[in-house]
Amino acid sequence: MNPTLLPRHIAIIMDGNGRWATKRHLPRVAGHRVGVDAVHRIVTACVEKKIEVVSLFAFSSENWQRPSDEVSFLMDLFLTALEREAEKLHKQNIQLRVIGGRERFDKRLQRQIDRVEELTLSNTGLKLNVAANYGGRWDIYQAFKQLATDIEAGTLTSQTMTLEMISQKIALSDLPEPDLFIRTGGEQRISNFLLWQLAYTELYFTDVLWPDFDVAEFEHALAFFANRERRFGLTSEQIKAQQNA
Ligand code: FPP
Repeated sequence: MNPTLLPRHIAIIMDGNGRWATKRHLPRVAGHRVGVDAVHRIVTACVEKKIEVVSLFAFSSENWQRPSDEVSFLMDLFLTALEREAEKLHKQNIQLRVIGGRERFDKRLQRQIDRVEELTLSNTGLKLNVAANYGGRWDIYQAFKQLATDIEAGTLTSQTMTLEMISQKIALSDLPEPDLFIRTGGEQRISNFLLWQLAYTELYFTDVLWPDFDVAEFEHALAFFANRERRFGLTSEQIKAQQNA
């Protein structure tokens, strides 16, 4: 595939783990465990294809409402995955970042997140963002809260506030916005993922359940992206004129 048609940033909702397991008469959590293998596959494919940024929705702020044994299982899974993968991520020159409110995680998990972020901070390869206890509305809210602090301090007013200032306080503001959004598992929703950042993103939905999402399926999503014409509010003619300039 022509590398200029590859997305720079891919955001993924990894849905369908529970159904994958239920179909096999396994407990739901078995699907999450196999889901980690799919994370491996896709991250490796992104490294090989030199994708710049991948953002994965691992745990939403609403997921706390799931049965408590499933929540504990997921927390353990994150901790073990981080412990096991830290060195491998580092060796692959991947920079890991976790976005979301991490204060609700237990201290051990918080420490491990800090450790891996610190270890991989200067890496220059794939930027891998994991959204955990994350919500798009929460993200916009925390950005406004920071700006409200500036207003209280007297350094900002409603007259001087700009859209750009909001963008700068939103998670991942230092990275290109997602070009391609992928959701597995058949639902066609954004489900409070990167609401602000997805404004111009191409949306790709597939019925394939996340544990079954393999490199061939990933290639389908990339081919879909390569065939899109991204207009950012312009007309098709304007885009063609820009391309020919
Ligand atoms: C959605 O499937 C999936 C989750 C809530 C968890 C995603 C977590 C992983 C894939 C594990 C590992 C992640 C990392 C980054 C180490 P679902 O349970 O909603 O599935 P369902 O819709 O079939 O019930």
